Amino acid sequence: MKEIRILIGGMGNAARPMVDLLTSERERMENVYGLHFRIVGAVDSRGGVIAPNGISSVTLSEAKNRGTLADIPGLGIQGLTALEMIEQCSADVYLDGLPPYLPTGEPGTSNIRRALERGMHVVTANKAPLALHWKELFSLAAQQGLQIRYGTAASAGLPTLEMGKLLGRCGELLEFGGIFNASCMYVFDAMGQGQSFDMAVQGAKAGGFLEPDPSMDLDGWDTAMKTVIQANTYWDQAYTLADVAIQGICGLTQADMIDAKSRGEVWCMVGRAVQNPDGSLKLTAGPERLPADHPLARAHWSDKVLWMQTRTQGGQVHHCIGASASSTPGNMYLDLVTIAREL
Ligand SMILES: NC(=O)c1ccc[n+]([C@@H]2O[C@H](COP(=O)([O-])OP(=O)(O)OC[C@H]3O[C@@H](n4cnc5c(N)ncnc54)[C@H](OP(=O)(O)O)[C@@H]3O)[C@@H](O)[C@H]2O)c1
Repeated sequence: MKEIRILIGGMGNAARPMVDLLTSERERMENVYGLHFRIVGAVDSRGGVIAPNGISSVTLSEAKNRGTLADIPGLGIQGLTALEMIEQCSADVYLDGLPPYLPTGEPGTSNIRRALERGMHVVTANKAPLALHWKELFSLAAQQGLQIRYGTAASAGLPTLEMGKLLGRCGELLEFGGIFNASCMYVFDAMGQGQSFDMAVQGAKAGGFLEPDPSMDLDGWDTAMKTVIQANTYWDQAYTLADVAIQGICGLTQADMIDAKSRGEVWCMVGRAVQNPDGSLKLTAGPERLPADHPLARAHWSDKVLWMQTRTQGGQVHHCIGASASSTPGNMYLDLVTIAREL
């Protein structure tokens, strides 16, 4: 049995169900792949635990039901930060489930950097460090002979990174456009059904799919970060958020939705990358009016869609139907297992 020691930063909507997967998938992982995952440290915003002998995912989950990991009897450390945990623990993989704080990408960036320096592979759901510091982090990972895997950050529900690399790195991929943000699409859908912008935003909030900082979604930052991450991956580039022309959806009204519908069009929040004749990329993130029969426009608000135009393989569409609560932890888990199988 191969044992993989894991550190976890953040125990929210993304990382918590991922930790639950470690329990529900345990038998299959041990029997089929000979892998045993041991959590040796975890933190939330108030503190955490360091447990070289391992701590069960059930104990972590129960602690989060009550409040904070820092209150776990005998093990909890008030105020323990992710960086301190990474400094103090030996582990194989650091799992980053921290929020994408802009404009600096901290503390996520420092955590990932230190984890790599200390010899840990990284699985991250946190878009900001990658969208801001791509070159530095991937150069460091390469120097260290380590992986950063980031399917969740690129867009949970779209496991397209390897396919995009295959197309982009041999000149096949000319352009992509994608629906990466369910909150904006929900707002458009609700406005199309007669709600005001504010009511629609409240609905997204009540549904639990708006980022804690709503401007992340509504001002286009989330779509822009996912666009940069995918473009860099597919074409082997090192663009940053500063290279994306970003537009939010706050200026749009119910009347805009009705007008589009009357002309057979649909508003969509689209992240787009188009290869210029000189090989550089034009990156945009913003609302677009698309014909109702366009592959992106056919998406339900909860779907994620990636459309790609290729040189010789025609148009390609990857459509995740109803990207659900399971897509995010599922994608992190996939990345974790991929690394673990190669160790
Ligand atoms: N949820 C999704 O469907 C989804 C999909 C794709 C990507 N993501 C990305 O995944 C990441 C996590 O998202 P989420 O939905 O899990 O967010 P969340 O529910 O807000 O959870 C964030 C977690 O990070 C902890 N945290 C916040 N600041 C911290 C700090 N400075 N140090 C240590 N821990 C800190 C929070 O602690 P407390 O528990 O104490 O508040 C919480 O446990 C984000 O980067 C997000 O963009 C999420």
